[in-house]
Amino acid sequence: MKKLTTMFSVLALCAGMSAGVQAAPDTIKFSHVVAENTPKGQMALKFRDLVAERIGDKYVVEVYPNSQLFGDGKEMEALLLGDVQFIAPSLSKFSKYTKKLQVYDLPFLFKDMEAVDRFQQSSAGQALLSSVNSKGLIGLGYLHNGLKQLSANDPLRVPADADGKKFRIMSSDVLAAQFEAVEAVPLKKPFSEVFTLLQTRAIDGQENTWSNIYSKKFFEVQPYITESNHGVLDYMVTTSMEFWNDLPDGDRAVLKKALDEAVAHGNAIANDKAMKDRQNILDSGRSQIITLTDAERQQWVEVMKPVWDQFQEEIGPEVIEAAVASNQ
Ligand code: LMR
Repeated sequence: MKKLTTMFSVLALCAGMSAGVQAAPDTIKFSHVVAENTPKGQMALKFRDLVAERIGDKYVVEVYPNSQLFGDGKEMEALLLGDVQFIAPSLSKFSKYTKKLQVYDLPFLFKDMEAVDRFQQSSAGQALLSSVNSKGLIGLGYLHNGLKQLSANDPLRVPADADGKKFRIMSSDVLAAQFEAVEAVPLKKPFSEVFTLLQTRAIDGQENTWSNIYSKKFFEVQPYITESNHGVLDYMVTTSMEFWNDLPDGDRAVLKKALDEAVAHGNAIANDKAMKDRQNILDSGRSQIITLTDAERQQWVEVMKPVWDQFQEEIGPEVIEAAVASNQ
C-alpha cells in the first residue's frame, strides 16, 4: 500500500513538472521589533515589495514587526539558527558579537545625523559592518532612526535630576555606564517591555528616538521628554553568512540591490519622520518637551563624556577618532 502511494506521488510530481508547474517561492523572513510606521518598518516593507516585483517567482519576503516573531533578546540567535533571514537590530545590541560597534553608543559623539551618516559612509564606518563576520553574521548596511531623547516621569534638566532614577536601556554596557555617570540606575530590558514598565512605573524613564517614542506611545505614559539629542539610535541590516553565501550569485545580487534601495528609502524618510513624530507628540498635549539651555546641556556633556575613556580600548581609539572627525 505504501509503495503504491509513493508511486502515485512520484507520478503526480512528474505530471506537475511536465505541465510546467513551478516550485513555490522560498520564504525569506524579516523580523523586527518596532512599529510599521517607523523608518525600519517602512524599509522592511519596501524590501518586501521590491523583491515581489523583481524576483517574486523565486522569493517571498514576510515581514514580522513589533517583536511578533522574535523579541530583541532572541532575534540574533534566531538568525544564526536560520529561523529568520533578515533582522535590523539597533547598533547598541551587538556587543555579544563585537565591541567595535559600541562606538555608536558613546554619549555626545555625533553633533547631528549628517555626521552620523558621514561616519557610516567613511571607510572606518564601512569596515565596522564586517566586525561581526567572525560570528557568522553579515552587516549589509546601516539604516537611520535618529537621535535619542530622554523621557521621564519628572522633568530632567540637569544630570542631578536623574539621580537615583531607574532608566530602561538597550543591552549595552556603554549605555549602562552613561546612566551610571549621572548616578541613575540603568536596567537592560527588551523593547517590547518598555511601555508596560513605564506605565506601571516600574521604571522612571528611558531614552529613545522621536519615532519610537511616538509609535510605541511612550509619550502617553511619560509626562516629560528632554530634547537632549545625546546619542544615536541607528541599525545594522543583518543576515547570516550561511543563508547569504548559499544563495545563487544572481539571486544574491538582486536581493542586495533591493535591500540597498529599501535602506536608501528608509534613510530618506528618517529625518522627516522624526520631526513629524516630535510634532505629533507636541500636538497630543500628553507630554511636555523640555528644551535645554546651552549651560544645562553642557552639564550632561561634562558628566557623560568621561564614559568614552572606559570603552576606548575595546572600541579602538582610531575608530573613535574617525567618528569624531565626521563632525567637521
Ligand atoms: C530599543 O530597543 O529601544 C530600540 O532598539 C528599538 C528599535 O529597534 O528601534
